[in-house]
Amino acid sequence: MAITRPEGTFDMLPAEARFWARYRDAAFQTFERYGYQAIETPVFEKTDLFVRGIGEATDVVSKEMFHVLSGGNLGKLVAGERVDSRSRFSLRPEGTAGVVRAIAQNGLIEQGAPPVKVAYAGPMFRAERPQHGRQRQFNQVGIECLGADDPTIDAEGIIMAMRFFLSLGIPAQNMKLLVNSMGCEACRPAYREAVKAHIEAHAQDMCDDCRRRVEINPLRAFDCKEEACQQVMASAPLIVDWLDDECRSHYEQVLSYLDAAGIAYEQDATLVRGLDYYTRTVFEIQVSTATSGQNAIGGGGRYDKLMEQIGGKPTPGFGFALGYERSVIALQEAGAMPEDAWGVDLFVAVVEDAARAQAFDVAQKCRDAGLRVELDHQGRSLKSQFKLADKLGAAYVAILGPDELAAGQATLRNMETHEERAVPLSELPAVVQ
Ligand code: HAM
Repeated sequence: MAITRPEGTFDMLPAEARFWARYRDAAFQTFERYGYQAIETPVFEKTDLFVRGIGEATDVVSKEMFHVLSGGNLGKLVAGERVDSRSRFSLRPEGTAGVVRAIAQNGLIEQGAPPVKVAYAGPMFRAERPQHGRQRQFNQVGIECLGADDPTIDAEGIIMAMRFFLSLGIPAQNMKLLVNSMGCEACRPAYREAVKAHIEAHAQDMCDDCRRRVEINPLRAFDCKEEACQQVMASAPLIVDWLDDECRSHYEQVLSYLDAAGIAYEQDATLVRGLDYYTRTVFEIQVSTATSGQNAIGGGGRYDKLMEQIGGKPTPGFGFALGYERSVIALQEAGAMPEDAWGVDLFVAVVEDAARAQAFDVAQKCRDAGLRVELDHQGRSLKSQFKLADKLGAAYVAILGPDELAAGQATLRNMETHEERAVPLSELPAVVQ
């Protein structure tokens, strides 16, 4: 049987690969306007980075990581031997932990004036149950800002994400921006205890997962999809009532900057997000038209303790990531997917086989001049060459016949207007351009 791609992965065929490149470029163009510069980090990292950074109790780390083993270490495991934790690797389930590690390891904060602002794009891997909008390999574009805890960073980040989605063509009325504050290490412990007590008081109505998680991470119960758990959590204490003065003031300032920028948002005190590193601001952008449950097209927030958790110097941080595939679904659902405008600039056709070497040379020169050029490689008739040119979306066809070549010319046909005129071969690039 033919080998197929792994479940939950997709092939990006040329039209989509083109759109991904456009999406990435457009995102980086927006991010650069806010001072973010591109960074690339490995797609696999030491497993410990994710365990310490994202949190051992999160679904992402406890259930959804793909682990990478060298052949030698796989052999050790199969033989029941131990593999040193330093040579245990995992495919990155998200970009933040790796980027923060790279900033620490390369001393970027020390080298430059903080904040350090970086942007990234690429594949992430989560062993989730695949469904519409939920893949095992998916692409994100994201930003991380390290070294500043001012609410302006959070606000400009949220504004930037919204601006990007709008510029992409996702209608404003289809998007919902949810914001919340998760508090900090000073005020969250008491809140956690209150939520824990609430869950314990209703333990008989909660699912096994929520009961099991109550010790390590009771807040995850807000995200549980079980109806009974949702009912219990509807009356749970809300973080907004537990924020200390500094967190409250930080949150209010973020909101006031969003107000001033005319950004519509909803405060959602149950928004807790699935990664443990967040402190203070969290946000999520959802599409209301989503035909599946996977309606979050992006999200992020502040993580003032993450750098320390992975062994770096205390450094506040803020960032977000946007899901490429879910953005495409949102565009499709809104009927706003831009047209794919691929086509070659010029097709070089020959009337007789004898002219093929010359056509090859003309094509080469036009390519060197910067044009997208194609020619027949399979001995087609002139009629079939025109069919191929049409298929390739050629703007022009240069016909090399015996008479034309004798005069050092080609007959150039504009494929849209069907106008034809004689053009000296040396002038082809300039005329087509
Ligand atoms: P996240 O919410 O886990 O955050 O992912 C961000 C976005 O990636 C989601 O809103 C969604 O659009 C997309 N996404 C996540 N999982 C999948 C999947 N299995 N299939 C398709 N798309 C998916 C983060 O990853 C954080 N690192 C964001 C962040 C950056 N926070 C601070 N800095």
